[in-house]
Amino acid sequence: MASPLYNASGVMCRTREELDAVAGSAAGALITKSCTLLPREGNPEPRYRATPLGSINSMGLPNEGYQYYFDYARQFDYRKPLFVSISGMSLDDNLQMLTALRALNLPCLPEVNLSCPNLPGKPQLAYDFAATAEALEQISQVYPHPFGVKLPPYFDPVHFAQMAALLNRFDGLRFVTCINSVGNGLLVDLESESTLIRPKGGLGGLGGDYVLPTALANVREFSRLMPEKHVIGCGGIKSGAEAFMHLLCGATAVQIGTCLHEEGVAAFARIESELIELMQRKGYQCLADFRGKLKTLDC
Ligand code: SIN
Repeated sequence: MASPLYNASGVMCRTREELDAVAGSAAGALITKSCTLLPREGNPEPRYRATPLGSINSMGLPNEGYQYYFDYARQFDYRKPLFVSISGMSLDDNLQMLTALRALNLPCLPEVNLSCPNLPGKPQLAYDFAATAEALEQISQVYPHPFGVKLPPYFDPVHFAQMAALLNRFDGLRFVTCINSVGNGLLVDLESESTLIRPKGGLGGLGGDYVLPTALANVREFSRLMPEKHVIGCGGIKSGAEAFMHLLCGATAVQIGTCLHEEGVAAFARIESELIELMQRKGYQCLADFRGKLKTLDC
């Protein structure tokens, strides 16, 4: 990748036009909207709101159906890497989509979303460790090529260790994206005394400044516990400073969500130039000079 920055799945990636805009921008890669077997309208509006500190969303996987994104992958020119996000409503759906992707034999990389917090009545799969292990066993059988997973945030060192041990068992699993939004937060408008979004009584996934420390902790712990795998950082990146922090915590590349939604694709060139300026100020020539080299105060 010419740049370590690309879009978070869900932002600028639902339609061909949006994907083309990311492909034509300074982003180093692009990823499609998490797809399901059939097209989905998603949850009722309003379902996304930005605030001075970030965003809340309960989109409910609005997408054009997997065939639309696989068609896009078929005609893409691969001037930069293309990731395809998959988020079936069941394990069987994921297996069906991955089987179809395997048959196409394209150079794109699937990111299996195990962490959508916005489907009423459906808990985030990756909080169920046994179900995650079962899913990865079956995925590895139908898809014997490199793939990744998108994880929800974890909040306890025991859970980091348990999930990392589980993920380390799967050789085909080459990357994990940390983190999806912090699920089921609630933002309240003081004047109207109302929730900001309609679905799920106002509960939704948080992004932006609200989640940066949680994202950094997940990137740091998973990259430390899974040295053979790549960690893609996602959460709270709005300038070169947060991108630098994610890389310092061990991220191979980083995804931009809320900031991209608010600023558009110009965010990629701006954040990249801020990152380069920061590296130059610190005397770093390349990302490997500082990637994963976070200092802690006990050493
Ligand atoms: C959504 O469409 O609800 C967002 C997907 C996700 O957070 O995984």
